[in-house]
Amino acid sequence: MLSKNLEKALNDQINFEYYSAYTYLAMSAYAEEMDFPGAANFFKVQAQEELDHARIIYNYVFQKGGRVELEAIKKPRVSYDNILDVFEEGLKHEQMVTKRIYNLADIALDEKEHATMSFLRWFIDEQVEEEESFSNLVKKIKRASDSLANMYMIDDELATRTYVPSIKASEQA
Ligand SMILES: [Fe+2]
Repeated sequence: MLSKNLEKALNDQINFEYYSAYTYLAMSAYAEEMDFPGAANFFKVQAQEELDHARIIYNYVFQKGGRVELEAIKKPRVSYDNILDVFEEGLKHEQMVTKRIYNLADIALDEKEHATMSFLRWFIDEQVEEEESFSNLVKKIKRASDSLANMYMIDDELATRTYVPSIKASEQA
């Protein structure tokens, strides 16, 4: 069983994962418009991963006998200054996600809810990679931003990212 408090926090995170997917899809649309198809691909893949995260938490709440109540998804930011701005916002977004996951883990820890603590470990580890990947890209793009040729090289790299579905072991039962 989940406490009402933890159930609410997990439901909030389901909503936030959908909002993250929306945010990244808006970033993809912006990159598309700015003629960076590789970056557009990168963010589209990112958006798909966020949908996986939402589904994983959704399934977990049911597994624990809880209730899922879906809320409206907030409109994401749709305009940016330039492509660097998009990646910087992506990094900030991931830092915010990390805080939210830590907050969830704090609640689980307070309640001595070991199953949820164990469930969240995957998300905690995932955030280390997310922040690292965005901060590396921000650095790269900053270095390249005065040369369009270098920017297009990075864009070609971003075009190679492919979507690999995230499936948690608990979902395979
Ligand atoms: Fe996520």
